[in-house]
Amino acid sequence: MNPPLPLPLARSAWIRQEMASRVLTAVAACSVVVLALAPTVPAAPLRVCADPDNLPFTSSNPNERGLYLELAELIAARMGTAMEPVYFPDVGLRALRPTLLAGRCDVFFGLPFTGEEPPGRSIRLTRPFLEVGYALVAPKAFMFRKLEDLNGRTVGVQHASTPQTLLSSRDAIRMVTFRTADAAVDALARREIEVAFVWGPIGGYRAARLGLLGEYKIVSTAGFGLRAPAAIGLRGADQALRERLDREMLELRGAVLKLGEKYHFPLDEPVDLEAPSTKPIPFDGDPTAAAEGRTLFNVHCSHCHSPNAASPDPQRDLRRLRLRYGERRNEVFYTTVTQGRPTKGMPPAGGVLDPDAIWKIKAFLESVQTKADY
Ligand code: HEC
Repeated sequence: MNPPLPLPLARSAWIRQEMASRVLTAVAACSVVVLALAPTVPAAPLRVCADPDNLPFTSSNPNERGLYLELAELIAARMGTAMEPVYFPDVGLRALRPTLLAGRCDVFFGLPFTGEEPPGRSIRLTRPFLEVGYALVAPKAFMFRKLEDLNGRTVGVQHASTPQTLLSSRDAIRMVTFRTADAAVDALARREIEVAFVWGPIGGYRAARLGLLGEYKIVSTAGFGLRAPAAIGLRGADQALRERLDREMLELRGAVLKLGEKYHFPLDEPVDLEAPSTKPIPFDGDPTAAAEGRTLFNVHCSHCHSPNAASPDPQRDLRRLRLRYGERRNEVFYTTVTQGRPTKGMPPAGGVLDPDAIWKIKAFLESVQTKADY
């Protein structure tokens, strides 16, 4: 971990002047008075709380400053001022008090946006500017649509991360825990693990650095708290600054994506691990819904599957779904009903019945499942 490296004062002052005059040249047509005044009264710099050694987010290396600092630079330029990183080693989310709240810096990039105002009036958030989350670094040929696809694999996670919690109860997955996300990707490069399940931007950046992206791909995940939109945090009192940032960020959406590509942030459509096949299904164990489901079944399905599902033909006996498919039965049921099995003589019901009606039928069928195969 490098010690903090504040910019020499003279240089930052110079940058400030440079920026101010560059921006002003662009708006020179507006007002000669502003042009004359501004260089002598430079706007206060935008001071960004930053970890000096946290790529791809922030870094004290002037040749590779990280997405957040480069973005801050673009914002500052639009505001006619300079971006001034204020470095704090290991500045985590818990470190807002001694940094942002103590007034030693003005903005903190990458706070999770929950959609609600944070409790208390001390911290406020801008609108989110980018979604970030956990992702897999996995072999290119690996198909990943649900957690079970990791069964039988050796998967690296970071200690105390959301993926660790998520995988720890799954015995079919061989989980290896690392102190950092970087260490997990490094182990992947040494082929000690098959997949790394880590914070996406770190996974993408590290994998690119190690030259792994020819052989491996990044797959973003969502659900189970694995993903959140990131916003900029600032002091509650800085209301005007917040409005200004929100306005500037609207214009910088394209630039954010370009920076995302540059730093290998995963920008793919995430795989939602809470999608219907893994989420608890609607109306499960609800007797009222099961009773309605019985009626729906006897109207829409019984002429082929027998009244109350008591079909003598084992192929059509829907009391045997649990025996036949076990945990997969929800998926098999929903797919078969919505898409039908046209080649076998079952029409799709998706256009006739809405999802609620279909899951009510399922609640009924659950109540009549055969317990043993006799
Ligand atoms: C026109 C006749 C017909 C209707 C109407 C019909 N099904 Fe089917 N269904 C079939 C046939 C035939 C099969 C067996 C296909 C096979 O052998 O794979 C089947 C299979 C299924 C399966 C898969 C069973 C398994 O064990 O693989 C489910 C689930 C199912 N039907 C649900 C329903 C539901 C729910 C309805 C009412 C919304 C319905 N079906 C209406 C003819 C029908």
